[in-house]
Amino acid sequence: MQFEKTETFKNLARSFAGECQAGMRYQMLAKLAMNEKLKTLSDALRTIAKNETLHATQFFNKIQEKAGSCDNIEFDAGYPFHAGTLVEGLKFAERDEKDESEDIYPTFAQTAQKEGFNDIAALYRMVADVERQHKIIFNYLANAVKSGTLYKSDKPLLWICSECGYMHVANEAWKICPLCKAEQGYVELHLPFEGVRE
Ligand SMILES: [Fe+2]
Ligand SMILES: [Fe+2]
Repeated sequence: MQFEKTETFKNLARSFAGECQAGMRYQMLAKLAMNEKLKTLSDALRTIAKNETLHATQFFNKIQEKAGSCDNIEFDAGYPFHAGTLVEGLKFAERDEKDESEDIYPTFAQTAQKEGFNDIAALYRMVADVERQHKIIFNYLANAVKSGTLYKSDKPLLWICSECGYMHVANEAWKICPLCKAEQGYVELHLPFEGVRE
């Protein structure tokens, strides 16, 4: 079957658009974080934004590989459009990543498999795993920012200044770095990580 006639072709175009938008939303979120002087949070959001643009590139490349250039790709799709505070943005992001990792990409992987594109199915599964980890990070960040516990812990943790490298073990990070005077928002985050599948 001609690739342009498959559902996978449209799914790739949908995914490319979705990942571009996610990358843009997270860059805007990173800006909001910077407005609140949360530098390492902003950096983490920019890293996730970069991940999304790399996903977009992979989907773009698959379209190019199978169909070459296309003047116009017609498809129906809906995309989230959220506005709000930093915490709201992090919450929305968690929900979007959940939808992608638990619903959208697994479905696209199944469709690709059915249509005989094992390589594209594998790509969707790999990207879904990353989005699942993004969901975990956004969930943690939304709660930590909301409750003011980004730099607090029940048990002592190693805190590191991202500017000068100063280190200290405590239940809470310093407000101002004793060495370089950078503010608390420059302290490295403790992002959660759940293992990938075997
Ligand atoms: Fe992504
Ligand atoms: Fe993601």
